[in-house]
Amino acid sequence: MTKTTAAITAVNGYVPEKVLSNHDLEKLVDTNDEWITSRTGIKERRMAADGEALSDFGVKIVEGILEKRGIGPEEIDMVIVGSITGDYRFPATANVICDKAGMKNAWGFDLSAACSGFLYSLDIGRVYIENGTHKKIIVIGADVMSSIINYKDRATCIIFGDGGGGVLLEPTEDGLGVQDSILRSDGAGREFLLQKIGGSVEPITKENAQTDGQYVFQEGRTVFKHAVKNMADVAAEIMEKNNLTADDVAWLAPHQANLRIIDATANRMGIDNSKIMINIEKFGNTTAGTIPLLLWEYEKQLNKGDNIILAAFGGGFTWGAIYIKWAY
Ligand code: UT7
Repeated sequence: MTKTTAAITAVNGYVPEKVLSNHDLEKLVDTNDEWITSRTGIKERRMAADGEALSDFGVKIVEGILEKRGIGPEEIDMVIVGSITGDYRFPATANVICDKAGMKNAWGFDLSAACSGFLYSLDIGRVYIENGTHKKIIVIGADVMSSIINYKDRATCIIFGDGGGGVLLEPTEDGLGVQDSILRSDGAGREFLLQKIGGSVEPITKENAQTDGQYVFQEGRTVFKHAVKNMADVAAEIMEKNNLTADDVAWLAPHQANLRIIDATANRMGIDNSKIMINIEKFGNTTAGTIPLLLWEYEKQLNKGDNIILAAFGGGFTWGAIYIKWAY
């Protein structure tokens, strides 16, 4: 019997217009363009307009996907939104996007896995395609990081940006699409990268709303060490598991947190720099948004059958790698 796999049949990305450059940040915190560029690879990032929410990103992403594929919103069965910056604590932003974009026959949910949000979501979506119950699933990875960043904290504001993207998953019998995944987590890492207040541990009160606990906290050095090791290990592991040599890999689509983490991952995989998708200099770290933004930007350079490794590491800790064969 032929195996059904989940092919990516369309991709779309979205970033807001407003640019926040390293030079802009020099006016907000004690930092400089040289430090940010050499330590992270980032030159600028995007910022949502006032009042622009995750669902607004989502609707633009979905509309572009539907247009590219030439289908209507009512044809979508399911929407998964990997994000940590939803419109509300509840309801899920997936519900809001379905409503705003007219996806009347879809159900969906949000998935909280920080920078691994797109990978986790993609893997769940592909299972629903493989089991035959769903025919068209939109998987989104996007974040409005500016809504939870403290622009007085140089440890975090220099890295993060707003944006994201999404893909359409559809069944195929030709062996293309998602081939394999390795996903991991370690909750012991939560103390090094988190938003401390606003959850049930410490709900927002009049008093704590004035404190920095409402923003992203990151102990950068510790996260960096874990990211370099785990993202590189898992990317190498998925290659080994699937008998892929560096020559077999057409592209690495790595989470864009820091150019040094990306380089370490590519080195460990033994792949050439020319095969690494990179856009960190323009968009910074958009959390769950980085990988679909890469696929969107590199779409024209991808060929049917290309072996692509997606890899991420982020808050949680969460990390993983997914091996796909590009389907168009
Ligand atoms: O996206 C998911 C997970 N996140 C990540 O993967 C991010 C991982 N972490 C990182 O990318 C890096 O740790 C950062 C980019 C956040 C920081 O870079 P670093 O090389 O780890 O810097 P550091 O925190 O070790 O600081 C080095 C020095 C310190 O000065 P001293 O103590 O050596 O005198 C800092 O005070 O750089 C100083 N520093 C800065 N200087 C200018 C820290 N932040 C800044 C800044 N501008 N923004």
